[in-house]
Amino acid sequence: MRKYRIAVIPGDGIGEEVMPEGIRVLDAVSRRVGGFRLEYEHFPWGCRYYLENRRMMASDGLETLQSFDAIYFGAVGFPSVPDHVSLRGLRLPICQRLEQYVCYRPSRILPGIKSPLAGKRAGDVDLVVIRENTEGEYAGAGGRAHAGLPIEVAVETAVFSRVGIERVVRYAYRLAASRRKHLVSATKSNAQQHTLTLWDQVVEEVGREFPDVRIERVLVDALAARFVLKPESLDVIVASNLFGDILTDLGAAICGSLGIAPSGNINPERRYPSMFEPVHGSAPDIVGRGIANPIGMIWCGAMMLDFIGETEAGRLVESAIRDVTADGSVLTPDLGGNATTREVSSAIVEKLA
Ligand code: NAI
Ligand code: MG
Repeated sequence: MRKYRIAVIPGDGIGEEVMPEGIRVLDAVSRRVGGFRLEYEHFPWGCRYYLENRRMMASDGLETLQSFDAIYFGAVGFPSVPDHVSLRGLRLPICQRLEQYVCYRPSRILPGIKSPLAGKRAGDVDLVVIRENTEGEYAGAGGRAHAGLPIEVAVETAVFSRVGIERVVRYAYRLAASRRKHLVSATKSNAQQHTLTLWDQVVEEVGREFPDVRIERVLVDALAARFVLKPESLDVIVASNLFGDILTDLGAAICGSLGIAPSGNINPERRYPSMFEPVHGSAPDIVGRGIANPIGMIWCGAMMLDFIGETEAGRLVESAIRDVTADGSVLTPDLGGNATTREVSSAIVEKLA
């Protein structure tokens, strides 16, 4: 029996509502496929933990996580805790310390789902954003001077290293080579003359290793418009931390809902565990109503299974999700239905039985 140790961090808000449904589906598929077992350890880290302990995770949390095969993460954020505290205290340190430098975010219109873009249907949008996940605009370098005075100044410096760009760009080229052999690099080097010119240069240099991949450099503002106007012209996109963050909410929206989109924070060398979390946040506006869409969380579970080597199980979960959306009768309100979180995961579990 193959065994995998999974660290479970539900976090806050709807993170706590969708996580049990994700685990339920993982258990259902492991029963169905057999031959492997997932052993979970739950960590209560997040904003409630912060309000009691003045920190978002245990002081040895980053070491503790290193012994797991993967991390399954819900979402963090609580109205009474500043967002920079919750993000900087948990998700960002995990991604940075565990060198999860690839943030892998597919956007796909699932069968039966209505895109807000006129005339776009399943198959018309099928793209992957590879977001740099350890540095760039989210490196955390900066500070405030003259705090509290009228002359107060805040500085936040983007950090782009050659190694940091190279490793994520090479990953994106490899992925593009395995798909439609077309890579779009999101840039803004007309205005960001130091950091993003280095980005462009490295994209071009690494590209010489991949002569079969057509590279297209697109300014990020024009790229945002292209997501809306011509998403079928996009396949693999490589972007900095901030650009990738913004583009992937847009990618989720054009595919019908933020509640569907999955994300993998990947350490490709497998030196450290990778972390799988939905793109969405803790959604305080719908928390407690039992209507959060669990598909993002469940799709992340499929990605996690695939990554740890249980590819058949991952494929089955993805196809069960597609069966449920194609059927269309059990969908949460964000997708125009009136089903609950639980009813959607039950429908997916049923397809797996
Ligand atoms: P959000 O993603 O939580 O919500 C944006 C909108 O999408 C809301 O109207 C929400 O109801 C809807 N939505 C999100 N997920 C949904 C789901 N599964 N089903 C149905 N509807 C869903 O982003 P927002 O409102 O900007 O941030 C809320 C909190 O989440 C903040 O504290 C923020 O810092 C945090 N956040 C955390 C992230 C993480 O843990 N990785 C990522 C993004 C935001
Ligand atoms: Mg985001």
